[in-house]
This record gives sequence, structure tokens and C-alpha cells, in this order.
Amino acid sequence: MSKGKIVKVSGPLVVAEGLENVKMYEVVRVGEKKLIGEVLELKDNFASIQVYEETSGVGPGEPVFATGFPLSVELGPGLIGSIFDGIQRPLDIISNNFGDFIARGIDVPALNRVKKWHFTPMLKRGDDVITGDILGEVQETSLVKQKIMVPPGAEGKIIKISEGNFTVEETVVEIKSEKTETVHKISLLQKWPVRKPRLYREKLPPAEMLITGQRVIDTFFPVAKGGSACIPGPFGSGKTVVQHQISKWSDADIIVFVGCGERGNEMADVLLEFPQLKDPKTNEPLIKRTVLIANTSNMPVAARESSVYTGITIAEYFRDMGYTVALMADSTSRWAEALREISGRLEEMPGDEGYPAYLSTRLAEFYERAGCVICSGSDERLGALTIIGSVSPPGGDLSDPVVQATLRIVKVFWSLEDKLAFARHFPAISWLRSYSLYVESFSSYLSKNIAGDFLSYRKTALRILQEEASLEEIVRLVGIEALTPSERLILVTAKSIREDFLHQVAFDPEDTYTPLSVQYSMLKIIILLHNKCEKLLSTGATIDEVASLGVREKIARMKFFKDDALEKFDSLIKEVR
Ligand SMILES: Nc1ncnc2c1ncn2[C@@H]1O[C@H](COP(=O)(O)OP(=O)(O)OP(=O)(O)O)[C@@H](O)[C@H]1O
Ligand SMILES: [Mg+2]
Repeated sequence: MSKGKIVKVSGPLVVAEGLENVKMYEVVRVGEKKLIGEVLELKDNFASIQVYEETSGVGPGEPVFATGFPLSVELGPGLIGSIFDGIQRPLDIISNNFGDFIARGIDVPALNRVKKWHFTPMLKRGDDVITGDILGEVQETSLVKQKIMVPPGAEGKIIKISEGNFTVEETVVEIKSEKTETVHKISLLQKWPVRKPRLYREKLPPAEMLITGQRVIDTFFPVAKGGSACIPGPFGSGKTVVQHQISKWSDADIIVFVGCGERGNEMADVLLEFPQLKDPKTNEPLIKRTVLIANTSNMPVAARESSVYTGITIAEYFRDMGYTVALMADSTSRWAEALREISGRLEEMPGDEGYPAYLSTRLAEFYERAGCVICSGSDERLGALTIIGSVSPPGGDLSDPVVQATLRIVKVFWSLEDKLAFARHFPAISWLRSYSLYVESFSSYLSKNIAGDFLSYRKTALRILQEEASLEEIVRLVGIEALTPSERLILVTAKSIREDFLHQVAFDPEDTYTPLSVQYSMLKIIILLHNKCEKLLSTGATIDEVASLGVREKIARMKFFKDDALEKFDSLIKEVR
């Protein structure tokens, strides 16, 4: 491999000369400390390198070594439950072996090389296989069976396969190519270049809901398994809490959480909480289905970019096994800021607000890796990858270039409002500004699994909330006396929708998660009561009478109903009627 020499260091950007035959996006080792970097630009004899580790103390004249490989991640047993940094170094192992600070240039493999995993074959000797076929399984954690798949190009006939305990580097299967007679030795470990989306057979339009247990999300602005969503919001409006809630409660098989440029204590929250929290379906700790990538605000800026790519590649790998995967990226603004910083140092022509002109292409390429797919392989297994990215625009300004570029790509927009957060209405997702373009495509799913009139209650509720907004304007101008009784009823019902349904406290053990069928019942009761009150008004009741009905108190307690919820809902419905 070729060797060059540093001519300039500018923060995370290093320029080297003399690296012969080096390619774009090739990994290079920079300086005496052998820091990890990636080639971003090639001009004449000079290579501009983005360095994923702190470059202080590195100077001109020091060597740079080409490696011949693009930035890649290791895929195999041992991913789940791990916490990696942006270039997939296992932080838990590093802290156990080297203390709490990551020494630079440290070489620790992402996946444990010594641990043995039990491999159970699903195919046998003599079977013909193509790329993506599942050769066997490893029970990685109590929640996840990792499928060992035929890597691209290793097609042919299985000549050796056996059950047993293997390290990730040992050969578990041998496949002989019919044409070339080559023997492919397959181990549990595969590598994949992070900037290249993993392959699949076909992309399908997403049709199934990702159920998160968060009422404002599932009922009003749902996201699909295989869909994409963004959460822009000002400082402290609840972006991280929403993403934590989805990581904890959504019905995905695998969660990949990328903490990108955010505070370390938020990552620490996840680390402390997930081993304690139990998956409601299986009662196993949530960490057993989770992969964490941590690139906190005190870690090198350039590695924010690699953390996003590392995360998405790991997520795609589990999608390829036929799993439903959800990836959270918190926050994509920090990644965009890293792009801006590097672009500035490369002296590229700046676009909006100094962000590079390719910002929107980068974001689009990232979100397009979401999807519902028929996986590679000869069976017809489906996999889904949902991407949920938070955006932190300065001052919560939605005209920010990162927000605007993201909104052009994603199908779901959860707009967090500081006014709501300030009033302690959480999740502070605006019901007036947010949207989901998936709602219609879920209608048959909802009819089949929940109720045929689900979407009509949703529509009524949203209409009432919109009317509330315009009535409030009138009240501000001329006072509540200007409203008719039925207009005042709108205000009463809207308040109930906001307080008894939308408001959901993440930290309350009962309130934190609401099954979809319960969400439906809750909303139905509120709307039935509204319809009933309209009738009462038309037959002579006063607005004060209908606003102070005893049943309203019970409705306010609905979210704390426990196991006998369904019975209680039935009797509430009877009472309303
Ligand atoms: N669903 C919720 N239930 C109860 N409290 C909430 C909820 N969502 C947010 N909060 C409160 O708001 C605080 C701030 O939330 P969070 O840290 O998620 O904001 P953020 O938008 O990620 O902020 P930053 O911009 O600093 O990253 C939380 O610590 C919590 O007290
Ligand atoms: Mg946050």
C-alpha cells in the first residue's frame, strides 16, 4: 500500500501528498498515531482526508498510509447490545481495557474475536445457494436470532456446513462456485462499506404501521414500517424523549440508536435505562434488541458522519435477515454541521447558511435507505427499515436548510412546538402543523386489525382541533360570549382531546405506552360524548351542563386504566350513550 506525507492539518481535515493510487473514500491511517481517516477529495497529487479522531498534535511531515479499503463495518454476532463509537469501536470494551478515555489510533475490532457462538445450519451439504440465502442461525441474545446469509458473489453448492461453536472468524460454511470452481469460505463475520446501501431484491410501498404506543403518533401521524419521519424542534422540546420512547416501545424487532453530536448524558440515560426496561412482549431487557452508536458532542466532529453511516449499515444488515428495524438518528443537524465544517475547510462553494450544496443529496441518500423490501435470497422474506431523524434548527426555525431538505424527503413530519413544551404539554407535537402521508395507506390495516371507523374518529378529532384554533382567535378578539353553545362545545371537546388523549407522560408507568386498540377506544369515547352533547344542546341543555357532566372525570382518568381497561371502556361507552 502506498505511503504519503502530511502537508497541512486544519482541524479534522488533513491534506497529504504522494499517496499513489489512493481512491475516493478509501480509509487511510494518518500520522505517527495512525489516526483513522477517509479520503474526501483528490486533486493532482494531493488527497484531502477527513479524520475521525482528534488531530491535535499531528503535523506536516508525518506519514499517511493507504489501506486499500473503503470505510466498512463489521457485521456478525455481537452487534446487539453493543455500544460503538462513530467508527464502530466498541466503547464498552475500550473502557474496560483502556480506561474511560479513548486513546487515539487504537485498534480494537468491533466484534469480539474470541467469543464462540453456536451456529445452527438451516441448509445442508449439496444445497445450491444464491446471494442472501440464509445458511444458518446464531441465537445472539434471547430476543434476536442472527441469520447468517450468503454474502454477495458467494453463490454455488454447499460443500461443507456443520453445527457447532465458532468464533466470528472461523469458517462455518464452504460454498463451491459451479462455474469458476472457487471455494468461498464463509465465516460469521462479514464486512460492508458503509457508504454503499446493502442490496435487496425489490422495494415495496410500505403498508404496515410501526406501532409506537404514543397516542399522538399512532392515531394522528403514524409512520410505516419501512417509512421515514423527521422530528424538528427547538432546544428542549422533546426530540430525544420521542426517539427514546419509540426505541423503547415500538413493535420493531431491532432498534439502532445513533446519538450524533448530542450531549453525553442523553446516551448515558439510554445505557442505564435499556438494560432495566423490559420489552412488553417478551419481558426481556430492551438492550437485547438494541445497537447503540454514540458520537457525543465531546467526540470528534467528523465522526458524526461515520456514526450515521455505521448505524444505517448495521440496520440494513438486520433488515436483510427479514426483520423490522427502526433507526433513530439524534440529531441530523449535528451531522449537517459536521458536513458544513468539513466543506468549509475544503473551501467548497457554500450553499444556504454555509451548508454545502450537496447537503440535500446526502440527506436524501440517507433517508432513501429506509424501506420495505423483499430481501436478497431465494425465499420471499420481507424486511423493513424505518428511519426517524431529529433535526435541531437554531431557534426552532423551520425554514432552516436541514429541516427544509429533510421535509422534501420524509413522509412524516412531527413538528415540536416550544409553546406546547413550555406549557408542559408533552409530547409537544403540534397537531396543526404535523402530518403523515401514510394515513390513507393504513386504512385497510386499521379496519382489519382495529376498527373500520378508526380513521373517521381521527378525522373528526383533527377537525375539532382545527376549529378550536380558529375559535380561539375569535375569543381573543371579542370574548367567549361571542360564541354559540355548539362552538363552545368544540372548545370543551378540543380541550378533552388535548388533555385526556394527546398529552402523554413518558415517565409515567401506565401512561408511557398505549396499545393501538386502547387508543382507538379512548378517542372514540371522547368523540361519542361530543356527538351526544351536541344533541343535548339542541334539545335545550346549557353549555355549562354538558361541560360539567360527571363522566368527564372518568374520561380524564382513561389513560391510567390498567389491565381491565377494555371492560372499563365498554362501561364508559354505555354511560356516554
Ligand atoms: N413525553 C414526555 N413526557 C414527559 N416529559 C417530557 C416528554 N417529552 C419531553 N419531556 C420533558 O422535556 C425535557 C426535554 O426533552 P428532550 O431532552 O427530549 O428535548 P430535546 O428536544 O431533545 O432537547 P435538545 O434540543 O436539548 O436535544 C425532558 O427532559 C422532559 O422533562
Ligand atoms: Mg435532544
